[in-house]
Amino acid sequence: MTSPTEDTRAQERFDALIAADSRIEPRDWMPDAYRRTLVRQISQHGHSEIIGMQPEGNWITRAPSLKRKAILMAKVQDEAGHGLYLYSAAQTLGITREEMTQQLIEGRAKYSSIFNYPTPSWADMGAIGWLVDGAAICNQVPLCRASYGPYARAMVRICKEESFHQRQGFEILLTLMRGTRAQQAMAQESVDRWYWPSLMMFGPPDEHSPNSAQSTAWKIKRFSNDELRQRFVGMLVPQAAALGVTLPDPELRWNEAEGRWDMSEIDWTEFREVLAGRGPMNAERLRARRAAHEDGAWVREAAAAYAQKRSAAEAVAA
Ligand SMILES: [Fe+2]
Ligand SMILES: [Fe+2]
Repeated sequence: MTSPTEDTRAQERFDALIAADSRIEPRDWMPDAYRRTLVRQISQHGHSEIIGMQPEGNWITRAPSLKRKAILMAKVQDEAGHGLYLYSAAQTLGITREEMTQQLIEGRAKYSSIFNYPTPSWADMGAIGWLVDGAAICNQVPLCRASYGPYARAMVRICKEESFHQRQGFEILLTLMRGTRAQQAMAQESVDRWYWPSLMMFGPPDEHSPNSAQSTAWKIKRFSNDELRQRFVGMLVPQAAALGVTLPDPELRWNEAEGRWDMSEIDWTEFREVLAGRGPMNAERLRARRAAHEDGAWVREAAAAYAQKRSAAEAVAA
């Protein structure tokens, strides 16, 4: 039991660390709400990386060349690694890996809605890398300075790999755009499908983002949803021109007077539908994740048995 004065002192110390732009570490005292917010955000982020392996994993067996297959395998494997770093970061806050897995496979946890869209064409591997990993970078670079140490450190490594992902996506699209008419059309069609969902990755407009203010005060979040969306569009425009693809928004233009990008209204009804589990692939993504978990039970059992045997052997040797 801690006394009220001890609690106040702990809170003051926490506030001072946040104000000084310092890091909160696992052993530091932190408000319950801060801990809960981080567990939710980091575990959802980890789930997104793990579910995010599926739309691209879908193309590994059908990649158009050995080189493309090797690159795609490396990319999907990176996403698994990101999931693991993030689950480890969440574990430092007191939640177990089993709890997080259960929440995901029972459909109680959220993950990024972008992965509930299907990947019917090879060009989708390009559009995902360019747009989805691109949006992820915009969201995640500021998280490298998040106030919670283990999360921020995981993000540093993740962001390095995400920028490789974005470049490989851009390069797939560039190759298609330099190809035949049919390849160009395939690239454009894919960009048309992924553009709006990638803009939705930044979340609802600032006026409808209730948790943002508290996360900003805690220095978990550094920029608002709309600021990040603007930054992303600003990055895409010159890259789309270099590719020769058209971004599917006739209203998109730079507003010199206001110093921002004007764009069409985002279809938030679609966003809410997908978020509510009614996207094109929600049920399939969870079914595949559950099946992988059940099919992998023998691997976990074997690994646990091996670890037990080793520690028993080490105990005898000691
Ligand atoms: Fe990732
Ligand atoms: Fe990625």
